[in-house]
Amino acid sequence: MLKDKVAVITGGAQGIGKAIAIRFAQEGAKIAIIDLKDSAKTENEIRNIGGEMISFIADVADEISVKNAFNAIIEKWEKIDILVNNAGIYPLENFIDISIEKFKRVFDTNVIGTFICSQYVANIFISKSIKGTILNIASAGGIRPDKYHSHYGASKAAIISLTKAMAKELINNKIRVNAIAPGAINTEGSKNPGLFENSGKLPDKFMEEQMKKFSPLTKSGMGEPIDVAEMALYLVSDKAKYITGAIIQVDGGRLLF
Ligand SMILES: NC(=O)c1ccc[n+]([C@@H]2O[C@H](COP(=O)([O-])OP(=O)(O)OC[C@H]3O[C@@H](n4cnc5c(N)ncnc54)[C@H](O)[C@@H]3O)[C@@H](O)[C@H]2O)c1
Repeated sequence: MLKDKVAVITGGAQGIGKAIAIRFAQEGAKIAIIDLKDSAKTENEIRNIGGEMISFIADVADEISVKNAFNAIIEKWEKIDILVNNAGIYPLENFIDISIEKFKRVFDTNVIGTFICSQYVANIFISKSIKGTILNIASAGGIRPDKYHSHYGASKAAIISLTKAMAKELINNKIRVNAIAPGAINTEGSKNPGLFENSGKLPDKFMEEQMKKFSPLTKSGMGEPIDVAEMALYLVSDKAKYITGAIIQVDGGRLLF
């Protein structure tokens, strides 16, 4: 489905981003990952299936690092067709206690990072007349915020709005922009979303109680990264050629209740 396409995936060293990278590689895409962490695990799996991958250790919120990475990708493969803005953080904190610095830190990665990567790649698409596509990983929490996640819910609501605004502005260039809003997905990050450093304690059994509320569709109540990756593949492929500005929930029905 993605033969000869070049896909950039942020936060692809683990979790949802890793599953997306592997699924796209299985369909023939060349993969570039931008992550704060080393992406060796993803790279090994992609090489094992005969795929091609390069990676950059960089912060998506750092404009210079992002530009350097995109320039290196263009130098190697001469184009980019797909951007998946997946890098994100979601530490828990009470609204009443969270500092401005911590609130901003979440916005830097989740919103500013998405903005920087998207603006840069959209300019590449336009200058090279590429009918490219951008996929943002938002969250069900951006539609209905959860407790102790005011900062996170607000950042993902911003992603949802940005997705629609970009879709509207870029439609005449035949650039499609969509978002997935996952519910609880079983990843390294969600197993231990943690608190910010020096934060107070959340109520006992908070996570346990949250998990029970997730979804009756699976034993654990959670979805798997592949559930998001399959939707990501569809949305960036030509099968979704008439879809832009859409926010697709992959949440096991979580928002119904
Ligand atoms: N797991 C869930 O339940 C869930 C639910 C809804 C939305 N999401 C969203 O899906 C995305 C991926 O989540 P996950 O559970 O796989 O997370 P994860 O913590 O397992 O992996 C996230 C990856 O992003 C990287 N990253 C973090 N900040 C970065 C930065 N500033 N620059 C570059 N890379 C950075 C991390 O190093 C890590 O490899 C996030 O945007 C998250 O908000 C996750």
